[in-house]
Amino acid sequence: MNMEEKLLKLHSENPDYVVILQACCAAHRRGQQEAVEVAERYGYAEASWLGFRHTDVKLDTDDFKLATGLPKRLNILTNMGFLEISFKSNSSTNYKVVAVDEVEKILQERERLQHEYQPTERLEIPDDLFNTIAGYDDIKALIKRALKVERFHILLCGSPASAKTLFLLELARLPGAFYCLGSATSKAGLCQVLFEQQPKILLADEIDKFQTKDIAILLSLAETGIVREVKFGKQREIQLKTSIFAAANKIHGMPKELLSRFRALFLPEYSEEEFVEAATKVIIDKEKADPELALYIAQRTWQVSKDVREAIRISKICETKREVDLDIQLLKRYTERSRLI
Ligand SMILES: Nc1ncnc2c1ncn2[C@@H]1O[C@H](COP(=O)(O)OP(=O)(O)OP(=O)(O)O)[C@@H](O)[C@H]1O
Ligand SMILES: [Mg+2]
Repeated sequence: MNMEEKLLKLHSENPDYVVILQACCAAHRRGQQEAVEVAERYGYAEASWLGFRHTDVKLDTDDFKLATGLPKRLNILTNMGFLEISFKSNSSTNYKVVAVDEVEKILQERERLQHEYQPTERLEIPDDLFNTIAGYDDIKALIKRALKVERFHILLCGSPASAKTLFLLELARLPGAFYCLGSATSKAGLCQVLFEQQPKILLADEIDKFQTKDIAILLSLAETGIVREVKFGKQREIQLKTSIFAAANKIHGMPKELLSRFRALFLPEYSEEEFVEAATKVIIDKEKADPELALYIAQRTWQVSKDVREAIRISKICETKREVDLDIQLLKRYTERSRLI
């Protein structure tokens, strides 16, 4: 890895250390300059200099965590090959920045640095992707095409149990994919996830339930790929080539500008044939039911509910057609009543 690649990696994985390295460069230059001035003043032929100490490194930040433990952090930068120990005694350790001219030049182009780091491996799409999903052949084909290009965003919108989450969970198998649920975005926050994971594919389930601050991040990510965070008065920014695949029950109430950034597909309610196919498949695949019984459950469920989850529930407690009939009778008797309440 050359110095530029090393710095790009450091920037993407540990941007705090880039800030420290920058301060080290400044300390390095100050020390060098002082040595030159001393040499001139006393007429020495050569300016000799031991290197800077951790107390010479001035961090222009109010980030307390960053400023403390500096000797340890300089040690880590040394282990990473960015600093070398130029002098060591019982009372002090002196450092110099390795290839300081080059490092400074690269750091000065920080903007570029911030925008360029993107892993570029080609995405392998497994043959069995979406095999767990019945129907939707056209959507499966579209998503596979979208996966081959950068930054193509798709929103699946539809009623409960229309396989939206199933689509996202299938996509979650792909390398570089990150799944997040709107009603429970991780405590770390979407922003941190994007900085740390730099996902190639962001799976935003229940996007209609994302917090406003996360919607703002998604808007920028979807449009330009830029993710920006201001913390302790310090700004960091990256540009990602992430494609977003999202799901929602309702688009009502979602910002228009967010919708406009997606290819939105509205999944219609299942026809009887589609329902029976989907329910039979999931009962066989997940509940390991006998195919004939699975088909029977799917067909009978359709008479009382259009929800695949109801068919799954029936399959969990019924082992014979007779038990299915009784359960359907019970549902007929009580679901009507529950609707009235
Ligand atoms: N076409 C389908 N193929 C296979 N399984 C299906 C299909 N449609 C629904 N299911 C099954 O129905 C259940 C619910 O599906 P899923 O969680 O994907 O729904 P959803 O659209 O995300 O619903 P919600 O809006 O409530 O979140 C799952 O167990 C899933 O396996
Ligand atoms: Mg869902």
